[in-house]
Amino acid sequence: MAASGKGHENWSSRSAFILAAVGSAVGLGNMWRFPAEAGENGGGAFVLFYMFCVLLIGLPVLLSEVLIGRHGQSSAPESVRRLARDSKAGEGWSILASMGVFAAFLILSFYCVVGGWVVYYIGVFVSDLFQTGVAGGAFDGRAASDVEGLLPGLFGNGGLMVGLNLGFLAVTMFFVARGVSSGIEWVAVYLMPLFFVLFLAITIYGAFTGNFGDAVTYLFTFDASKLTGEVMLAAVGQAFFSLSLGVAGMMTYGAYANRDTNLGETSGIIAGADTAVALLAGLAIFPIVFAAGLSASAGPGLMFQSLPIAFQAMPFGSLIGLAFFTMIFFAALTSSVSLLEAPTAWMFEKFNMSRAVATLIVGGGAAVLGVLSALSFNEMAEFYPLGFIPLFAETNFFDTLDGVTAKLFMPIGAILTCVFVGWIADAKLVDQENGLDGALHQLWRVLVRFVCPVILSVILIYGIFG
Ligand code: PHE
Repeated sequence: MAASGKGHENWSSRSAFILAAVGSAVGLGNMWRFPAEAGENGGGAFVLFYMFCVLLIGLPVLLSEVLIGRHGQSSAPESVRRLARDSKAGEGWSILASMGVFAAFLILSFYCVVGGWVVYYIGVFVSDLFQTGVAGGAFDGRAASDVEGLLPGLFGNGGLMVGLNLGFLAVTMFFVARGVSSGIEWVAVYLMPLFFVLFLAITIYGAFTGNFGDAVTYLFTFDASKLTGEVMLAAVGQAFFSLSLGVAGMMTYGAYANRDTNLGETSGIIAGADTAVALLAGLAIFPIVFAAGLSASAGPGLMFQSLPIAFQAMPFGSLIGLAFFTMIFFAALTSSVSLLEAPTAWMFEKFNMSRAVATLIVGGGAAVLGVLSALSFNEMAEFYPLGFIPLFAETNFFDTLDGVTAKLFMPIGAILTCVFVGWIADAKLVDQENGLDGALHQLWRVLVRFVCPVILSVILIYGIFG
C-alpha cells in the first residue's frame, strides 16, 4: 500500500486498530466523567439523550474522521490537505485538523493531571492493603470524612500534584516515543484486555454486593421533564469527549489503518464498545455508591471520594479499590497515548525530525501547561487566564483548558469535518473509504451533510451564549 511520510507505520491487524481506537475512546471520560455527568444531570434523561447523540452525531463524525486519516495516510492536517487536493478543493481545509492537533495537545496537558490523581489512589490502596490486610473493608478504623478528605488533601499539595502529573505524562511519552507498533499498539493490546477483565470483575462484584436495582432504575428511567437544554448540552459534550472526537486523534489513528479494513463497520464497533463501557461503568459505580447510602450527584467527587468511602464498608475493600484504580489507570493511559500521538505525528512529519525528538518537544510543552493546571488546585487557584472573556470569568487554568476544548475546539472541529466530508470532498473518494452501502450509506450522508452540522452549530452557540 501507498505508505507516505517518513516512518509511516500501520497497525499490524484490524483488531490492533480496534483495540487502539477503543483504548483512545475508553478512558477517564467513561469511568470518571460519564457517571459524574449522569449523576449531576439527573440520570435517565441524560443517559438516553447521550445514547441518541452517540448514534446520530458521534458515530457519523467518527467515521468521517477515520476515513480522512486513511485516505491521507499522514498526520491529521496533512491527511485533510491530501483529501482536499485530490478533491480539487482548497488546501486551507487542513486548518480543521491543525486546530484539532492543538486541542489534543491542550487536553493532554490536563488529562495527565487527572491521570496523576489515579496514580495517587493506587498508592493509597497499596499502602492500605499493608495496613488493613486483604479481607476487611478499606481504611479500617478511619472516619468517612478522612477518606473523603484524601482528594482535597492531594489538591492542597502542589508539589505532589505536579510530580504525579509529570510521572503520568512521562509514561505516556515513553510509549509514544516507541512508535506505532511497539509502543501505541503494545499498550492497547496488553492493557485493554486487562482493563476489560478487571472491569467485568468489578461490575459483577458491584451487582452482587451493591444496590443494583436502584442503579438500573436511576440510569434508565426516562423522565422527559429533566431533559433541559443544559442536560442536552452536557450529553453531546460527553459523547464527543468520550469518543475522542473533534481533536484529530481518530484521524491520526485512521491513517495507520490498512486498506482492507472496513471503516464503517469498525467505527460501529468502536462507538459500541465505548458506549457499553460508559453504561457499564455507571452500573458498576452506582450500585456501590447507593449501597453505601451516598448521593449520585457528587459530580467529579463520585469516583475519587464517594467510591473509596463505599469501599470502606465492603469485604476485600482495599483489594477492590486497588483493582479499580489500576483499571482506570490502564484506560487513562491508552487515551493519553492517543492525545500525545496526534501532535507528535504532525510534528515529526512537518519538521522531518525523529519521533523521539518530536515526543520530547510536545511532551515538554504539555508538561509546562500541566504544571499550571496542577497548580490551579492550590497555589494558582486564583489565576484566571482568560478572565477578561465573560465565558471564562473566574475560571482557573485547568477549567479554562477544559472549557475551551470542550465548548469551542471540539464542536468547531467536528462541524468543519462534517462540512468538509459531506460537501467539499469528492464523494467518490469518500465512498471508497467509508465501507457503507445501501440505506446505511444514504443515512450517513444525510447525517454528515445536514443533521450533524446543524445540531453541532446549535450546541456551539448555546455553549458560548447559553
Ligand atoms: N475519549 C477519552 C476518554 O474518554 C479522552 C480523549 C479525548 C482521548 C479526546 C483522545 C481525544 O477519556
